[in-house]
Amino acid sequence: MKILLKNIGQLVTWDKKLSQMVINKNMDILISGQFIEAVGSDISKKADRIIDCGHLVVTPGFIDPHTHPVFAELRRDEFEMRVQGMDYEKIAQAGGGILNSVDALRKLSEDELFRLSLPRVRRFLDYGTTTIEAKSGYGLTIEDELKSLRVIRKLNDELPLDLIPTFLGAHEIPSEYRDKRGKYVKLVTDEMIPSVAEEKLAVYCDVFTEKTVFSLEETEKIFQSAMENGLKIRIHSDEFSTIGGTELAASMNAASADHLMKISDNGIKALKKSGTTAVLLPGTTFFLGKKEYAPARKIWDAGINTALATDFNPGSSMTQNLQIIMSIACIYMGLTPLEALQAVTVNSAVSLGIENEKGSVAPGMTADIAVWDIKDYRDLSYWYGMNHLKILLKNGSLKE
Ligand code: NIG
Ligand code: FE
Repeated sequence: MKILLKNIGQLVTWDKKLSQMVINKNMDILISGQFIEAVGSDISKKADRIIDCGHLVVTPGFIDPHTHPVFAELRRDEFEMRVQGMDYEKIAQAGGGILNSVDALRKLSEDELFRLSLPRVRRFLDYGTTTIEAKSGYGLTIEDELKSLRVIRKLNDELPLDLIPTFLGAHEIPSEYRDKRGKYVKLVTDEMIPSVAEEKLAVYCDVFTEKTVFSLEETEKIFQSAMENGLKIRIHSDEFSTIGGTELAASMNAASADHLMKISDNGIKALKKSGTTAVLLPGTTFFLGKKEYAPARKIWDAGINTALATDFNPGSSMTQNLQIIMSIACIYMGLTPLEALQAVTVNSAVSLGIENEKGSVAPGMTADIAVWDIKDYRDLSYWYGMNHLKILLKNGSLKE
């Protein structure tokens, strides 16, 4: 099956040869099966189907490199408490927050969790996202973490969306281990990680490294076990406090360090040196009603690969729409609309090691392509809070 995309207004993508984003006019895209065969002006090859793009904007399908999409219940009550002045960290310390989601998820069977997650996770496609990184982390027992990761695997099999799985057993200390946290860390390093690795259920291992959650020493132990078991690493660091998580992760060659609202100059230097991607989550600052955004300009200008993600989760960022994340990144973090687009496509792909397959429109790449109902790519950020998606192709197939 060959599909030809004609009458593209702007094709906005990373150009590998030029090593920059380009805004091309008068380009056609020829898709053959799952892949892009050719990109050029006036391709007149025979195709089985021609899609008239009506002079609209075309980009690669978006890649969301930080999500927590497998959970049982929403946390509306907490949201209501927060908007009335209660602090997110205080709610967590009082046993709410992540632990609320843990209680709810533990009650569900794998099938129930899958059935609940399926329609929700499918929604990423409605907003032009074709690949997500997906974390466990609301189970916090071996069985419940494996259950969550198996659900992620099933979602990946069932949906056209690609899910890249991350084990996040170190998301929080569960209630039953509050006064024996060393034992929980040992459970993660000696039992959970080997089981996850044996079933090949995750590509990455993540830790929530924070003054009130996992310490540096605990994080290091968990990462060591992850690496010994063949998992790559990502970290939640410098979200509410600066305790050196970013520097530690960079020294261990983490694929990404995420959040970074409180990153220090030292942390920025460490990321630069290691080539670790900074994954910024401005939706979280926004949704938590905080004032402090990650210093994106400083990070970007230091030459660090910088990506944007939704952080989709029921507590701190209840959105699956990367378009609004781009708007927030422009307005509060000083990225340009073109940089924001780069951050949700090629830069996200780099953070997940998939930049040779996904995240740009070029011959040989997977045909994950979004056509947006706008005439200028800047409207993705400027015309905010909207869903501009018009047509989505995933693996060369039209999603209608
Ligand atoms: O990335 N920071 C830690 N974890 C999530 C929040 C999870 C939750 O509140 O359920 C985050 O923001
Ligand atoms: Fe997160």
